[in-house]
Amino acid sequence: MWTARAVSVSPAQVRLLDDRERRVYESLLREPDRALYLTAHALLRLVLGEALGRDPAGLVFAAGPHGKPYLEGAGVEFSLSHSGERVAVALTSGTPVGVDVERVTDLVELPLPVLSAEERAVFDRVPGPERAAAFTAYWVRKEAVLKATGEGLRVDPARLTVSAPDRPAELLGWRGREGPRGRDDVQPHLPVRLYDLDAGEGYRGAVALLGEAAHRIVPRTV
Ligand SMILES: CC(C)(COP(=O)(O)OP(=O)(O)OC[C@H]1O[C@@H](n2cnc3c(N)ncnc32)[C@H](O)[C@@H]1OP(=O)(O)O)[C@@H](O)C(=O)NCCC(=O)NCCS
Repeated sequence: MWTARAVSVSPAQVRLLDDRERRVYESLLREPDRALYLTAHALLRLVLGEALGRDPAGLVFAAGPHGKPYLEGAGVEFSLSHSGERVAVALTSGTPVGVDVERVTDLVELPLPVLSAEERAVFDRVPGPERAAAFTAYWVRKEAVLKATGEGLRVDPARLTVSAPDRPAELLGWRGREGPRGRDDVQPHLPVRLYDLDAGEGYRGAVALLGEAAHRIVPRTV
């Protein structure tokens, strides 16, 4: 796990981007958005390049059906997230992985319909000043799972139930995917291992890994 703060842009980082990334980068008008995008994509390339012993600028990404990037034939899995000033990159030696970091939301009205009924029952007891951080903690846990499977927000996050923010991270249920084996709506990826990630003050983060095996998370701040 690598986390970084996006503070500035450098020409050396820009040179790592491919044409598509460069177009996105150049389309961003606000300097903080540019710094965030550039830091994220440069970090991802540097991490992958080092792990695979390849030129970071030469990596060619493919995308899954819902946009999850991957490297054909590389034998590694990875995930990227960026929010506010934070970037997170997760890399595994083959276990599908999803990472999500989010700045603690400053929305006056939280989008509570993304919570399941079980989560909502707990959330409704969270005191006012803690609600934004608690909501963000739920959100990153759910989104990390959906990024690990590659479905992203094509799946209604309210179908997932994760543990309460003050409990160890865990996927407790996934409505529509709990039926007997062999049914179409049972996805092959469960179970999911979920871990919280220290994304820094004012942020929440989580990483999800598909499958039974326990994992050792090695955090690196760059
Ligand atoms: C992936 C998704 C959850 C991103 O959430 P977010 O909080 O806005 O952004 P994050 O910073 O956490 O993650 C973004 C990164 O996730 C990765 N990503 C994109 N789609 C993904 C997917 N389906 N699954 C996992 N990772 C994905 C990319 O690396 C992306 O980086 P980029 O946008 O800089 O290229 C959301 O955009 C989504 O659900 N997308 C898929 C559905 C969709 O609309 N697809 C359109 C193309 S078919």
